Amino acid sequence: MSTREQFQRPHLWYRDAVIYEVHVRAFADSNGDGIGDFPGLTSRLDYLQQLGINTIWLLPFYPSPLLDDGYDISDYYDVHPNYGTLDDFKTFLSAAHERGMFVITELVINHTSDQHPWFQRARRAAPGSAERDFYVWSSTDDRFQDVRIIFQDTETSNWAWDSESESYYWHRFFSHQPDLNWESPLVREAVIGVLDFWLDLGVDALRLDAIPYLHVQEGTNGENLPQTHEELRRLRAHVDASYGDRVLLAEANQWPQDAVAYFGDGDECHMSYHFPLMPRLYLALEHGNRLPIIEIMEQTPEIPAGAQWAIFLRNHDELTLEMVTEEERDLMWDTYAPDHRARLNLGIRRRLAPLVENDRRRLELLMSLLLSLAGTPVLYYGDEIGMGDDISLADRDSVRTPMQWNSGHNAGFSKAAPQSLYLPVVADPPFDYKMVNVEAQEDDPHSLLTWLKQMIRRRSRHLVFGRGSIRFLEPANTHVLVYLREGEGETILVLANLSEQAQSVELDLSAFSGFHLVDVIGTARLPVIDERLCSLSLDPYATLWLSIDANQGDK
Ligand code: BGC
Repeated sequence: MSTREQFQRPHLWYRDAVIYEVHVRAFADSNGDGIGDFPGLTSRLDYLQQLGINTIWLLPFYPSPLLDDGYDISDYYDVHPNYGTLDDFKTFLSAAHERGMFVITELVINHTSDQHPWFQRARRAAPGSAERDFYVWSSTDDRFQDVRIIFQDTETSNWAWDSESESYYWHRFFSHQPDLNWESPLVREAVIGVLDFWLDLGVDALRLDAIPYLHVQEGTNGENLPQTHEELRRLRAHVDASYGDRVLLAEANQWPQDAVAYFGDGDECHMSYHFPLMPRLYLALEHGNRLPIIEIMEQTPEIPAGAQWAIFLRNHDELTLEMVTEEERDLMWDTYAPDHRARLNLGIRRRLAPLVENDRRRLELLMSLLLSLAGTPVLYYGDEIGMGDDISLADRDSVRTPMQWNSGHNAGFSKAAPQSLYLPVVADPPFDYKMVNVEAQEDDPHSLLTWLKQMIRRRSRHLVFGRGSIRFLEPANTHVLVYLREGEGETILVLANLSEQAQSVELDLSAFSGFHLVDVIGTARLPVIDERLCSLSLDPYATLWLSIDANQGDK
């Protein structure tokens, strides 16, 4: 029996999930070659289980020249030898499933590596032939002028010259990543083959990388085109008909109105990242004011039943500032990346802990928002222990250094000689692996890791966080963000003091008169709600999760 037949996925599992994003190469090296691999990752599943996450999102691990850390795929059907074999992947997947954990892998279908056999074949094929038409060609480099350049620190055009075919080819990202031509029915068919391969192996969800750019059309900016949505409807229909319980997650770095379109009418992706919310969490923190969050959530349309936002603080890319105004971008850069080396394209190539100057209160505040706002939280590996970054490394490698397990050789990541590691371990204080590592935090009741484990467990006990509605309250004191999560038979009131001073708010909770407020996180003693305004105080950067219960219940 295949993994697919054995593994039961509960209805709406992705809405109850807590996702952990990790690159195989960065987690644990089992064979001492300096690069993390699947056996290493499998050996660390207990750690992830104890952390409390239940879904692992793997960055691309396929054969690739690795010029874009694997997003430049040269073979969709195998594992890069650096990371092990396909059998190692299958072992990992079964081990994750045995623990009731789900696995999300990458479906990178906007582009391939220029080393992919499809591209090698295309550049030699006759113009107009089916093989050639796998990619987008032109005799000039002036078509699609309204399309922006995404990697603007590296690329000057979305066209690159190919001397073999004596033609230009189209690429949104690096020039070694030619875009597939979605006008070609053969491309569609080939992609279905790839999708089937991984879903047949038992993968639970696919992250659709760079999905707004599939189609390109003269006279448009080439993003979110109706034809692209049509492709997604086809993919979804195929997934539903053939697999039922699998999930598509859209990577669409777009304004809320456009991002929401990736859910379709419930007939495109199940999940989509809320990109515009992310920088506004940092902006709200900088201003000590809830308005940036409230404004973007007000602009966020309702999503179809069953759909879910994926929310995040950091990921493997630069902290993107594409979905903010120029003024906000400048403020973010000045505040969070005063050192210009930390800036990349339209973003900031730093990790979470350095962004908030390693201030535990601000780390906890951001993480508790991540775990209580509407959506499925995505944690980036290493942030659970407050890992630092290394901006002396090129591009986004600054935030992709080895996981810090202990204070020993190479932070316990690998037995290799330090100079053989795929990237050096962070060794500079205050993020030095000798200080910041799993072992040091695991047994410390006061560590960030211990705190986060408890918070994830609290969240997981309350289905309302993943499934319920969100309603923002607007008390006069705008330093405090307040929202009600309602559904699944419970109501939780969340308060977050975004400022560095103690604050108090007065809330009209008379609709819940006679109910009790039960502190879900701490031990605060709270009044029974009545008709009067309810006054609550919060320490600097503090958060409260208060369950509104008819009876004084258990925590
Ligand atoms: C990924 C990046 C990658 C790009 C091109 C993005 O959306 O997150 O890491 O460089 O796609 O594949």
